[in-house]
Amino acid sequence: MKLTIIGTGYVGLVTGICFAETGNTVTCLDINMEKISFLKNGICPIYEPGLENLLHRNIKEERIFFTTDLNSAVRDADVIFLALPTPPGADGAADLAHIMSVAASLSNVITDYKIIVNKSTVPVGTAEKVMKILSKKLPRELFDVVSNPEFLREGVALEDFLKPDRVVIGTHSEKVKEVMTSLYQPFVRQGNPIYFMDIRSAEMTKYAANSFLALKISFMNEVANLCEKTNANVDMVRIGIGSDERIGKRFLFPGIGYGGSCFPKDVLALHQTAKEHAYDFKLLKSVLEVNKQQKLLLFHKVYDHFNGKLKGRRLAIWGLSFKPETDDIRDAPSIDIIEKLLQAGAIIRVYDPEAMKNLSARFGNVIEYAVNQYGALEDADALLIITEWSEFRNPDFDKISALLHSKTIFDGRNIYDSDKMDELGFHYESIGRKT
Ligand code: UGA
Repeated sequence: MKLTIIGTGYVGLVTGICFAETGNTVTCLDINMEKISFLKNGICPIYEPGLENLLHRNIKEERIFFTTDLNSAVRDADVIFLALPTPPGADGAADLAHIMSVAASLSNVITDYKIIVNKSTVPVGTAEKVMKILSKKLPRELFDVVSNPEFLREGVALEDFLKPDRVVIGTHSEKVKEVMTSLYQPFVRQGNPIYFMDIRSAEMTKYAANSFLALKISFMNEVANLCEKTNANVDMVRIGIGSDERIGKRFLFPGIGYGGSCFPKDVLALHQTAKEHAYDFKLLKSVLEVNKQQKLLLFHKVYDHFNGKLKGRRLAIWGLSFKPETDDIRDAPSIDIIEKLLQAGAIIRVYDPEAMKNLSARFGNVIEYAVNQYGALEDADALLIITEWSEFRNPDFDKISALLHSKTIFDGRNIYDSDKMDELGFHYESIGRKT
């Protein structure tokens, strides 16, 4: 099939490359000329394990093409995917400006039947708005609009796309169902379902999924906070509850709050949708509040430990991205923590395997950047672990002891065993476990 993907961000690129991988001819379109010229040369603008290899292969096999020209990208396409950003607007609701402007442009260039699939995360009712814009210039039989939310996690996006738990498609058209089934069939051969539903339910499914996961994490974060007060151990509690299939083992890891480009934005947007419909979604309000509080938990632990005396104190930070295997620092707890530490007068040296460039674009030379994880430690009064990259899990503790000025670790991701840290003589504070 001939597919066009509009938007070569994270979702668009993964979608385009994976559909090319199953033999479709894919054209990826973006207004950013620099990005398109990088991609034409096989350079991936985002860090996502495995993606650049697949990009090279599909460029070589002439299954994927990149362009900035809407006309030519749309002309031969059977299916057009919209993978455009929907950032939060001033009130928290998703800003649909990109989607609406592309819909208007499409209405000027479409001349034969197209299926327009929305992959962006958009509030309930957006597909209807897109249809309305298209209908201004096009007869109804020239297009169908479909909702097909994506459930990719950064860092494991290829695996999530190539072997999805489920595919959700919002459409009433039998013709569309057939086309979408043949597109996704190669990815669900093990029997995972393709769920067809009405468009509004598909749009809501995406927000409900992300908000529920954010709620699950926030619930565990609060349980962890209470464990600290009651001298229980959240690791044990997590195992104890997770083996109940109704609860499930995944997404129960407490930490210093969720971040990234999805959960924060989507919880806020669903909260806003509820408000627009005069519904008081109390749980979502709490999730937003709990996460805000949790993102500063590590700062408060450091502050209390040093009795508020952070002025001139040197601190080392390992991990900046909102989670491992990505260079993404959007809404990452590292930003909130660093800002608070700087305000309190601390001197900060950071290390992250992938996210240093993004962080330096934000903080510049107000903080120091180490060339490797141990380089961050010299003469520091404490080490703060903010992201659980694998390389931090089994470090050389002798080296850490020798480099740190005082043997103190604040671990926001519970990656070390408390008893072992005790034996090694560290002052070790983590989340929801005894100090
Ligand atoms: C999330 C969803 O997991 C995807 O299903 C969805 O498609 C995607 O958003 C999206 O809407 O595009 P992602 O933002 O890549 O994916 O990251 P996650 O792996 O879900 O992690 C999100 C945050 O939750 C991270 O900050 C992570 O540290 C935190 N988290 C996750 C916890 O604190 N505890 C956990 O047990 C799991």
